[in-house]
Amino acid sequence: MKKINSVFFFLIFIASLSFAQVEKTKVALDLSDPKFIIDKNIYGHFSEHLGNCIYGGLWVGKNSKIPNTNGIRNDVASALKKIKVPILRWPGGCFADEYHWKDGIGPKEKRPTMINTNWGGVTEDNSFGTHEFLELCRQLECEPYFTANVGSGTVQELAQWVEYVNSDNVSPMTDLRKANGQEKSWGVTYWAIGNESWGCGGNMRPEYYADQLKRYGTYARNYGSYNLYKIACGPAGDDYNWTEVLMREGGSDFSGLALHYYTWKNSKIAIDINKADWFDVMKQSLKMEELIEKHSAIMDKYDPNKRIALIVDEWGTWYKVEPNTNPGFLYQQNTLRDAVAAATNLNIFNNHCDRVKMANIAQIVNVLQSVILTKDEKMVLTPTYHVFDLYKVHQNATLIPLNIESADYKFDEQKIPSVNGSASIDINNNVHLSLVNINPDEPETILCSIKGLKTENITGQIITNKEMNAHNTFENPDVVVPVSFSGYKIAEEGIEVELPAKSVVVLELRGEVEKKPALEVKDARTGLSYNLYKGIWNQLPNFDLLNAENSGEVENVILPKENPGENFGVSYNGYIKIPEEGLYRFYLASDDGSLLSIDGSTLINNDGLHAVEEVMGTKYLSEGFHEVKIFFFQKGGGFNLNASIEGPDLKKQTIPKEFLFH
Ligand code: AHR
Repeated sequence: MKKINSVFFFLIFIASLSFAQVEKTKVALDLSDPKFIIDKNIYGHFSEHLGNCIYGGLWVGKNSKIPNTNGIRNDVASALKKIKVPILRWPGGCFADEYHWKDGIGPKEKRPTMINTNWGGVTEDNSFGTHEFLELCRQLECEPYFTANVGSGTVQELAQWVEYVNSDNVSPMTDLRKANGQEKSWGVTYWAIGNESWGCGGNMRPEYYADQLKRYGTYARNYGSYNLYKIACGPAGDDYNWTEVLMREGGSDFSGLALHYYTWKNSKIAIDINKADWFDVMKQSLKMEELIEKHSAIMDKYDPNKRIALIVDEWGTWYKVEPNTNPGFLYQQNTLRDAVAAATNLNIFNNHCDRVKMANIAQIVNVLQSVILTKDEKMVLTPTYHVFDLYKVHQNATLIPLNIESADYKFDEQKIPSVNGSASIDINNNVHLSLVNINPDEPETILCSIKGLKTENITGQIITNKEMNAHNTFENPDVVVPVSFSGYKIAEEGIEVELPAKSVVVLELRGEVEKKPALEVKDARTGLSYNLYKGIWNQLPNFDLLNAENSGEVENVILPKENPGENFGVSYNGYIKIPEEGLYRFYLASDDGSLLSIDGSTLINNDGLHAVEEVMGTKYLSEGFHEVKIFFFQKGGGFNLNASIEGPDLKKQTIPKEFLFH
């Protein structure tokens, strides 16, 4: 009996250990070595010829009574400008693989119509085409991102579209563009080679698509200074085989791989939410992290230097369409739940910005998880809009790595972390911390330690509501809007935050960023010293173990003047004198491999055999001297090396010779 008792208590003890809860969520920020920039294109959007996204949502035409500029709605354009839309994808989606761009140029009355077979079977009159879309991007001051028709188009069609928008030579395509009123090329650099080629874009096998990618990509030419950023169709959700095949067989002529993943709940409309629905949507949203990590791991095998970006160019919530709307129009309301889901996704993208360089929420207006809904002349901003508004501070800021030990949110014997977040530091040294509490019932107390910043001042904003399905309507547009937040206090090693249930909070922290002392250097001479080595390598050798053929001084990061032959390596040593304290971005472009280290730690690893590739690294540096080392090697063919710097009050430029000493 005694034995049974002790076994019993032992089992209880073990069980209690496995149920041991994190009482208070702990968040740790470390500003000591920020490395990656959160590409502003993570805050991108998607516009498709689908329902009322284009027609009625973005575009009303010049003769509309709805106030417009060149046919684009003024209210929608100015709301979108406020959230700083960085990039806009068009014309689809599934629509793209049935779209023939020449149908959408020239006099409107002569443009042929087509049936939009994917979306509601409505007649598309092609009144919104290339010129109108690029006018929209001009007004929004955003990058255009085109999706080419691979499913039902031709290579020639794509080649001519690129020529039409990007060439300034004399040619039939550029003549056509000029005849249609556009004298100068626009310069569209982002091009997707097909959309969902595994599904509505042609139902292809990855092996077959990999060949199509190379074929279409070959004829999508660079004109003038416009170097195309080609994006391959990537996987649907967890189709890891697709990623594997594309990375292995897709060639080297693409810069991004597009992942599509939606949070599905299409059995119920957006505002019909119980606790199980809430939990399900949150759990699915958090799955984005697993997808990114697993696809990235496959990409790492083939592309360890992360030259190819993961582009999440369709994501968001997908519910049952609103009653009495065309089921093919995918029109849905947008609630506090969508705000929490959007913020969670954006935190995940921020935290993986080493690989994720663009994301495009689906879709910008009136379709799926929109930031704006319109009805005739009325417009309402959704809770998701307000998340994009609060999170815009992260655009192009430097990621601060976060470690979160979150309390669990448990539902029906399942659990997920209650709290997620991300943080960044901008070029003015303002730190932004985004925190999300997905628990719909309980607030979370967060102990947040901050290494490298002495916080002096905090401001904050919050998006929350008592109701899970709180939403904005044309009649009541301000039910879910950001308000000022004061649930924080400065604590000994950081801050403490009381995060209400189902909330999104963005804090701005100002204070003194910890100074890292510069080196004391006396009698420094201008320029760098270098050693030149001969040898044949496929990656950077350890130069310390080799005997130099020659050595000398260069005033800049340039290759030594003597003819080094076909196969050689160079190491540069010296100091960089930083003009003022702040966050600096360094860029190292090389053909073949190179590496840059500052103060003894590697900042940029651009190693390997490759054509000219530029890699960036970021470092917070105090004013004064810092040790700098650059390594470079060349094997056969052409070669190139350039090192640039960008910082506070310093535009991106080749590191000036005035900065370099040894
Ligand atoms: O965003 C709606 C549709 O979802 C897109 O057209 C398609 O690419 C995806 O399946």
